[in-house]
Amino acid sequence: MDVILIAAVTQDGFIARHPKETITWSQDLNLFKKQTLGYPLIMGSRTRACITGELKGREIIVFHRKDKPQDILKNLNAKRCFIAGGGKTNSKFISYLTHLFLTPHPMIFGKGVRLFTDEIKEPELLLEEILPVNKERGIYQYQYKIK
Ligand SMILES: NC(=O)c1ccc[n+]([C@@H]2O[C@H](COP(=O)([O-])OP(=O)(O)OC[C@H]3O[C@@H](n4cnc5c(N)ncnc54)[C@H](OP(=O)(O)O)[C@@H]3O)[C@@H](O)[C@H]2O)c1
Repeated sequence: MDVILIAAVTQDGFIARHPKETITWSQDLNLFKKQTLGYPLIMGSRTRACITGELKGREIIVFHRKDKPQDILKNLNAKRCFIAGGGKTNSKFISYLTHLFLTPHPMIFGKGVRLFTDEIKEPELLLEEILPVNKERGIYQYQYKIK
């Protein structure tokens, strides 16, 4: 099964200004919807609490501190699943990821929630595809395979 981390990031590697921020600045929501529709979507409890809109057509799995990534993944019966943050949850799943779908935005926060909040082992990335999100603003989604 493909385990894909999907995130909108700033140029300095942040995914939110603070852990309670509802993300309204990302330009890739349509792409996010298209790509995740029909697949399990795993997110941390703080991220779940920040989402105001509906997430129809996807099985939402909320990740808590007592949960083990391997237990959640082994119970899924899908071709792919998505890890949709936040930084704590992304860190927990790092060693199970097969792909990263990252959309850098033309923003700098200076501080906030990083893509990975905890210490991780450095992954080796192989660029597979670049999809346009907003060409005028130079926003593209970079799809990497993790070697
Ligand atoms: N830009 C993007 O694409 C994007 C995507 C996703 C999320 N976000 C943003 O990321 C932010 C949330 O990220 P986050 O990293 O703070 O949270 P998170 O990963 O969404 O959720 C927090 C996780 O950490 C656990 N946890 C909390 N306190 C802990 C502790 N002291 N020790 C161990 N585990 C602990 C929680 O478990 P319990 O449930 O047991 O407390 C939960 O599993 C939000 O602002 C959200 O909007 C941005």
